[in-house]
Amino acid sequence: MFASILLLCVCVVFILLQLKSRRPKNFPPGPSPLPILGNILELSLDNPLKDFERLRNTYGNVYSVFLGTKAAVVINGMKAVKDAIVTKGIDFAGRPQDLFVNDSTERKGVILADYGPSWKDHRRFALMTLRNFGLGKDSMEERIHGEIKYITDDLEKSIGKSLSPQLMFHNAASNIICQVLFGQRYEHDDEFIKVILKCFTDNAKLANGPWAMLYDSFPMIRSLPLPFRRAFKNVKTCQALVLPVVQEHKKTRVPGQPRDFVDCYLDRLDKEKGNDASTFSEDLMIMYILDLHFAGTDTTSNTLLTGFLYLMTYPHIQERCQQEIDEVLGGNDQASFEDRHNMPYVQATIHEIQRVANTVPLSVPHCTIKDTELMGYSIPKGTLIIPNLTSVLNEEGQWKFPNEFNPENFLNDQGEFVKPEAFMPFSAGPRVCLGEGLARMELFLILVTLLRKFNFIWPEDAGKPDYNPVYGVTLTPQLYHMKVQLRETN
Ligand code: HEM
Repeated sequence: MFASILLLCVCVVFILLQLKSRRPKNFPPGPSPLPILGNILELSLDNPLKDFERLRNTYGNVYSVFLGTKAAVVINGMKAVKDAIVTKGIDFAGRPQDLFVNDSTERKGVILADYGPSWKDHRRFALMTLRNFGLGKDSMEERIHGEIKYITDDLEKSIGKSLSPQLMFHNAASNIICQVLFGQRYEHDDEFIKVILKCFTDNAKLANGPWAMLYDSFPMIRSLPLPFRRAFKNVKTCQALVLPVVQEHKKTRVPGQPRDFVDCYLDRLDKEKGNDASTFSEDLMIMYILDLHFAGTDTTSNTLLTGFLYLMTYPHIQERCQQEIDEVLGGNDQASFEDRHNMPYVQATIHEIQRVANTVPLSVPHCTIKDTELMGYSIPKGTLIIPNLTSVLNEEGQWKFPNEFNPENFLNDQGEFVKPEAFMPFSAGPRVCLGEGLARMELFLILVTLLRKFNFIWPEDAGKPDYNPVYGVTLTPQLYHMKVQLRETN
């Protein structure tokens, strides 16, 4: 009897050891994985950023962890991150294809598209379309100013009172991208936008939570009726909402005279008729639209929210920005994006806001498209790569004041604006954020217009500000209230 139990135990241990994941030869080092679970017990599901930093201190700038049985390489610090995503950009330009987020978005869209013809065509198409709609030209500026008017109206109604700005900035960012996509803005209680936002928020939560981690780690549970299936339903709901908007565009469009992104895509579909190798399709367009809306909303609004949190609690920085804005704009009606070249302090402050906001802390996961090398380690094709942007944006040695909110990080001794190489909140290389130009224009025009007109004050009864963000795909500042006053110069 004893011998049988012993034999059984030996067998179980043997099987578990076989199941234990192993690092390939010369793979980046990392903590020893448990069978099946890998290293997931070492990573906090609520916020793994501190754990990634702890592992970096132990294993260096390039290390590996097992998420279940899947190996991931975490890249830290400016040098290693740049080496991977810029110098060897193409080797690292893939996206993993076997994760919860891929299945929930039906492998369509652009953010998670793998490196290949469809991603390339769609990325080029989006950049060109954004440019044609006046990124750098006046029309995009006008659309942004149009949306700013709604913010200033909201703020004027709240003069002297305390207000919660979350919904206001979220709406503004959502509407700017909606105008680009559909040529239309939506009130925040409009069913269309309300349902899309609800589905997105739910999916972002699921993608960051334990169910997605389990889905990714244990493929055998994927077809079970567990809570992660809600994400698939949410995507279907959003697709069903966008479809009638596309149908309406088809009815009212004049081919060759696009009003917005949807019209441009429909023109492109006309052009591609008869091309069997075309990567463009109506089905893809719908996920693409949802992708752009998702990518362009939370990112910009959370950066703005972080910005106002710091500007209120560092009033001397707010005042110095206002002085510069007054001097440069003088009697002009409104700011133009070109004015940034004459506003080094404002530019430095906006960049510093982006640095501390660290809006997309772990970028979007990459994947190697071939066997490659990084900092002397071998990384096989198909390895999941996590570029830790947090580790770059606050890296000692790269910044004058890595742990402070201080626009001096972006100013030289002559007070001129300079951008250190480690500034990469939009990531870098071939997969760099496709909306960077739009986002930078939005941040500049919104901040300058609002600071010109209003003073933003931390309410006396609000207690001490909490600068610790809530972790997610994007970092969100803790909820706060702001007090607004009209400036005396107005
Ligand atoms: C402050 C605002 C924003 C920040 C901080 C930000 C940041 C990022 C980051 C870190 C990535 C991942 C890049 C990589 O994988 O290496 C990304 C990708 C992307 N972003 Fe943004 N983003 C912002 C605004 C926007 C806007 C307004 C749009 C919409 C037009 C947008 C569209 C995209 C898309 C489509 C991708 C995927 C690109 C690809 O895979 O080729 N983003 N963004």
